[in-house]
This record gives sequence, C-alpha cells and structure tokens, in this order.
Amino acid sequence: MTPEQPPWWTRAVVYQIYPRSFMDSDGDGIGDLGGVLQRLDHLSDLGVDVLWLSPVYPSPQADNGYDISDYQDVDPLFGSLAQLDELIAELHGRGMKLVMDLVVNHTSDQHPWFRESRSSPDSPKRDWYWWRPPRAGLPAGAPGAEPTNWHSFFSGPTWTLDEAGGEYFLHLFDRRQPDLNWENPEVRHAVYAMMRWWLDRGVDGFRMDVINLISKDVGPDGELRDGPPLPGLPYGDATTSVVCGPRSHEFLQEMHREVFDGRRESLLLVGEMPGVTVEEARLFTDPARAEVDMVFQFEHVGLDFTGSKFSPRPLRLTDLKASFGRWQAGLADVGWNSLYWDNHDQPRAVSRFGDDSPRYRRDSATCLATLLHLHRGTPYVYQGEELGMANTRFDGLDDFRDVESLNHHAQAVAHGEDPDTVLAAMRRMSRDNARTPVQWDAGPTAGFTTGTPWIAVNPDAAEWNAAAQRDDPHSVLAHHRRLVALRHADPVVALGDFTMLLPHHESVYAFTRSLDGSTLLVVCNVSAHEYRLGELLPEMGGGELVLGNLAVEDPAVLRPWEARVLRVG
Ligand code: NOJ
Repeated sequence: MTPEQPPWWTRAVVYQIYPRSFMDSDGDGIGDLGGVLQRLDHLSDLGVDVLWLSPVYPSPQADNGYDISDYQDVDPLFGSLAQLDELIAELHGRGMKLVMDLVVNHTSDQHPWFRESRSSPDSPKRDWYWWRPPRAGLPAGAPGAEPTNWHSFFSGPTWTLDEAGGEYFLHLFDRRQPDLNWENPEVRHAVYAMMRWWLDRGVDGFRMDVINLISKDVGPDGELRDGPPLPGLPYGDATTSVVCGPRSHEFLQEMHREVFDGRRESLLLVGEMPGVTVEEARLFTDPARAEVDMVFQFEHVGLDFTGSKFSPRPLRLTDLKASFGRWQAGLADVGWNSLYWDNHDQPRAVSRFGDDSPRYRRDSATCLATLLHLHRGTPYVYQGEELGMANTRFDGLDDFRDVESLNHHAQAVAHGEDPDTVLAAMRRMSRDNARTPVQWDAGPTAGFTTGTPWIAVNPDAAEWNAAAQRDDPHSVLAHHRRLVALRHADPVVALGDFTMLLPHHESVYAFTRSLDGSTLLVVCNVSAHEYRLGELLPEMGGGELVLGNLAVEDPAVLRPWEARVLRVG
C-alpha cells in the first residue's frame, strides 16, 4: 500500500445485500431486485460506496443461490437482467458501485456443464468436475468407498455416487453443489469469459466465493489424499488438500491477466477465503502480485466455538484482540483486509458479541460498530446490521431454512447427539439468524413483503426497524452514518498505522491510529461495567471527541458499552 496513491477502496464502506431477505416487490415473500431498487435511498442515506449483491443468478436455491445453474442471467425469482442493468445505472448515478458475487468453486448440479459432465464418462465436459472411482477394493456405494475421507462443510462426505455412471463426484459443500475442476484450462477460460461479460455490462467487481478452495492438492496421477480423522466423526479434515491449494495464486494471477488487466483501478476484487492465514493473505493481496484487492477472512468469527461452529463458547475479548492485532500488524505494510461482524453466514453480532437485552442493545451495537470501523481495512455492513438487527427466535426445527443447519441437525442426531442440545446450538449459531427479513417498519411483515415471508420476520421488528430510526440522531442507523462519513473524511481512519493498547484487558478494547503526525485514540468498553479512563490509559488524558456512541457525562468515566474516538495528537 503506497500512502501517496491509496486505492479508492481504502476509504470505502461496502454494504452487503442478501436479496432474498432484503425487500420483496412482488408479494411472493422472497426479496428481489425490484425491492432493492425501491430501497436505494436507504443506501444513499447511509453513505456507503459499494453494494455487494449476494447471488441473483438462476439457481435451484439449494443454498439460496450459491448453487448457480446459469452464470449469465437473473433468476425470475429475483427479477430480470433488465432490472440488474437498471440497478447498475441507478447505483452509478448515485456514485455507488456494484460488486457481484462470483461463485466458481462449484456450480449447481443443474448447471448444463454438470449435466453434460454427468451424462457419460466420455463426455467432453467429464473433466470439468472431479469424478473418481470408488476407493480401491470397495464396491461403489459401500460404507467408506468414497474416494477420500473428507468431511463436507455442510456435513456428510464430500463425495456423492452417481449411480448411473458408478463414479463419485466431489462437492466440498452440499451434494447439489459439485466442485469445478480448475485444473482444466477450459473451465478457467469459460469462467474468465463469463466474468468479462459482467464487467462489460457495467459491474464494478466481484466478491469471490471461497476462492481459496479452487486449487486442490492433486497428485500427478490425479490422486487426492485422505485428511487426518476428525474426532467423533467417520470423516477426515480436507483442509490441507483444499485450502489455499498449490495453484491458488497461479489461478488468481491468470484470472487477473485475463479479466482485470487495464480496468483494475476502478474495480473491487474481494477474495472470500476460509482458513486463510495472514502470511497467505499478504501474498493474495500484495498489489504487485495482481491477485485480489482484499481478503475476507474468518479468524475472528471462529473464536467463539471449538471445532464445529455448532459447539459455541463465549468469546474472550483478549482472543479477539490477539487475532485482530495480528491481522493489523501482518498487513500493515503489504496487503489489505476486509472488516466485518455480520454477513449472511454469521449470526447477528449484537447477539453474539454484544448484549441484545433491551438495556444495552443499542449501545452494544454501536460500540461494536465503532470498534470495527476504526480498524484499518475496508468495513462491510450487512443488511440490517445498521439497524441493530439481532438473532431471531426459532421455536423448533421447522423454523429453520438453511441447508447447513438442516444437514448438521440430521448428521448430529444420526450420530446420537441429543436433539435439544443440537437445536440450542443452532438457535445461537445458525446462518438463518442473519437471513430474517430486513425490518423496514413496524407493519405486520416489517414492510418486507405484502405476502408471506419465506422465513419468519424477527418478532422484535415492531420496535427495531428503519422507519423508527431514520430521523433519530441517537439510533444505530445514525451512528453508522457517522462512521461511514468519518472514514470518508479522515485519512487517519482509512490509512493510519494501528497500535493495539491494553492487549490483556478482558473488557476494554483500545487502540490508536496514526498518520502524518495525527493520532486517533479509540476506546471501546465491551462490557456492562464502568471503567475509569485515567486508570486504564493514564498517559492518554484529554483529547477532542471526534465520535462517540453515548453522550459523555463524565469524560473520566467509560460507561457500559461506551465507545469513544478521540483526537489525541
Ligand atoms: C460461502 C458463502 O458465503 C456461503 O453462503 C455459501 O453457502 C458457501 N460459500 C458455498 O457457496
């Protein structure tokens, strides 16, 4: 990163829309592009720079659109290509950019490429996917006959037998999401052509779904290796074979040459990368290597569980500091990170890391937002986060919709886990918490639809909604507006060096950001206790308040969930 010519996205804030749950314009209970078009003022008012749109492509919706059956169209469920063009024009007219979700580690099993590949071992597209015979010595379909022992991200094995052909195909996610074989240059060039088509249409970049899984560690004769056994499961861990595989950088550099050369400066290229290390992230985001602009990594959202996300435990603030601190330090001179709490794959942060009780919900939501947005990196706001939307209530299994949660439930119960315990963990960690409809107003469906929503509206919508917050300067929404504006206005926020303070304090998160002799001190009380600032940071007295989430009654006292940004130099 050269401070003399910082890329535009260092000052930008991205807003993520999960279209199915954002706004429904046609009364079928499912959000759509017409709904997005109706709500663009909400985005302009917030001041965000980029809209990242989760998939709207034709899809059987096994994973709500992350299973794509046609990369170059819009699913009628969500609208039409004409509406997407309108969205691009509207956003550009308002000075915003549109980033599309690019899901090319896998397709839907209904994609014509896979149907063709599956049709025969001699199909010209057979090698576009990962087909393998049963494990040596075992008949197809026998227990343990899968070509490797890998455990799927969505439970069960990563291999499904195609009964007709007698071979297995690989799917790191659901069986309806077969993995593309990036070793095959035809696959890569088909993907690049599709990406150019979208850029020519006017989109401003891509958020690349699990892009660090595209290169598998495959031997010279096509062999794939078993992973170490996973405790309590009849599967092994695929990580070493599929995460940041040997050709990941080569593939991304090739993509860059083929797709982005000559138009890179105005684009945003985000690589979603589960399991990426800081060291790998430096390589992926070093501008000189021309791969992606920033990673979207998961370390901080993996600190409140052990092993599986469905084995939750409380977050220790010191663990969060250690993780964020390492990422800030590791990418200080080279590379760039995304900053996020919420997205469509995470439970709501105010419930998870904050305190969603009536007393502290507003204060903890604004405290967490301040903590995040003041780091170095590009902040992402996920729809509803700017309203303080919280986890919802799930009475029983029927209330869940997500394939990950439902597959987990089936697997865990089949392995003898207590159904009530499984359900309790799902209530806390399920992705469905993020997917309840955006709460626009206090109406019966929160203003989301005139029909029946595909997933129930959070019962708290009458109180927590955009209409109630729009003109309230004390609201979570107003606070987000101020955070976005601060990043735009103050180069220290965008580019300043980061120094962690109080790394061992269990409740107060404090750091400085400094640039060209100017320093901001950020102090966030991530607890319901009061602290005396003078005792915490004796050398940091005074300072002008740049932004805070509570009215300061006594400058010496940090109230529960209070966050302050002070100019101290
Ligand atoms: C990551 C996406 O964010 C998630 O929603 C999806 O289920 C998986 N990738 C598979 O595409």
